[in-house]
Amino acid sequence: MLKPHLDEAKKRTRSLVKIENFKMARDLKTLGLGKTYYVKTYGCQMNVHDSENIKAILEMMGFKAALDMEQADLILLNTCAIRENAHNKVFGMIGRLKHMKEKRPNIITGVCGCMAQEEVVVNEILDKYSFIDLVFGTHNINELPEILNKAMHENKIEVNVKSIEGDIIENMPAKRDSKYKAFVNIMYGCDKFCTYCIVPYTRGKQRSRRFGDIIREVKSLKDAGYKEVTLLGQNVNAYGKDLNLEYDMSDLLEEVAKTGIERVRFVTSHPWDFTDKMIEVIGKYPNIMPYIHLPLQSGSDRILKLMGRRYTKKSYLELFNKIKKTVPNASITTDIIVGFPGETEEDFEETLDVVNVCRYDSAFTFIFSPREGTPAAKMKDDIPLEVKEERLHKLNELVNKYAKEANNKYLGKVVPVLLENVSEKDSNMLAGYTDTMKLVNVKASKDMLGKIVEVKITDVKTWSMDGEIA
Ligand code: SAH
Ligand code: SF4
Ligand code: F3S
Repeated sequence: MLKPHLDEAKKRTRSLVKIENFKMARDLKTLGLGKTYYVKTYGCQMNVHDSENIKAILEMMGFKAALDMEQADLILLNTCAIRENAHNKVFGMIGRLKHMKEKRPNIITGVCGCMAQEEVVVNEILDKYSFIDLVFGTHNINELPEILNKAMHENKIEVNVKSIEGDIIENMPAKRDSKYKAFVNIMYGCDKFCTYCIVPYTRGKQRSRRFGDIIREVKSLKDAGYKEVTLLGQNVNAYGKDLNLEYDMSDLLEEVAKTGIERVRFVTSHPWDFTDKMIEVIGKYPNIMPYIHLPLQSGSDRILKLMGRRYTKKSYLELFNKIKKTVPNASITTDIIVGFPGETEEDFEETLDVVNVCRYDSAFTFIFSPREGTPAAKMKDDIPLEVKEERLHKLNELVNKYAKEANNKYLGKVVPVLLENVSEKDSNMLAGYTDTMKLVNVKASKDMLGKIVEVKITDVKTWSMDGEIA
């Protein structure tokens, strides 16, 4: 049993990161024959992409996708630890697994992802939920075949979670959710240690993939017919900083754009590492989507300092204006936390002030959630929950107002939309996104799927638009 340790996860080693190719022992390639799997994914795009890798590995082992969880022989929960409610959802699901296992004792159940990297969570599973068969973390997804093999042949829970950052595994197989859009990891982990955030502990130190490996992956996706790639990392603007080479994110982005793939975007970009050269590159290449997620977190300098974000309200707004100047049609979205320990009414007003200046296209808003082991969890927090909820409500009203305003500008305009799937509400409609990441429902036939078409916007709502092919 290899359990995670919080103290180990906090450490950063100077050792070079090893790069290895994914491999799987031949005798494990039949382990899943005749069995089905179901992977339930929580959390961010990083986790969504990890699940795509997990599914492909399982299929290499002979497992087939189950239609739903109730029928699956193997159920894996790929979990998120970012806030308390993410935790609660997963523990609720683990409770459901217990009932399923009582009815169907032969099923195999597992927990992986960011919660599996938490010492407290693994201890709780061992204490209260030991009917779970396997637990593995974010650093050893490539070892899933061996871990699963043990879990299936030994009559006890198999826990294998590494606390120190993993190697970079190239050539990981992926069963992608979309035929048109693909996630491409460009870096793993995070070294920013924002005081509220658990990610640096669950994902380890920053490790950038090699430039050539990323470009190769993008080219092969393009050759396979993919229209859009999303470059993924917890703060992609810091790409390459750990490699100490002469190139950085702006060079990578430029090289990806030059592959000629129709659409390129990237998430998430920390304002701290956003260089002028990056903005220039975004403005220069038409296939780099004019869409930027630029998390603010707070508009108060005092709170930003307590959060360890390393920018001020002023420098954030300067960056925002620079982007808007060079990429005037850019849609900019953000993340905001309310109720950080000690946040006063004045601090909160500063946040509203930034929202009023930036008029974001949309924003993800959260109430601060203390995470075990992070510095902010130990800060004195005497703001009542009702006050935090009131602030969130007030913030959301403002955010929604500007989201609708931003959408209103599209009315009557003709914009490119990548048609991705049949609309959930109406099977005669296709749904897709503009290059500014606006959701559009379009009356079109299924043979248009996977195409980027010019669409005239006929109606706008707060979170979506309707349109017809121009
Ligand atoms: N790497 C990204 C953020 C990833 S987490 C960045 O730095 O921009 C996504 C969002 O969750 C964060 O931007 C933050 O707004 C929110 N978040 C993270 N930790 C949180 C916590 N402890 N409580 C509430 N919200 C949190
Ligand atoms: Fe968390 Fe900050 Fe890293 Fe984003 S940059 S993942 S908020 S520590
Ligand atoms: Fe959650 Fe882990 Fe992503 S904590 S937000 S799944 S990096």
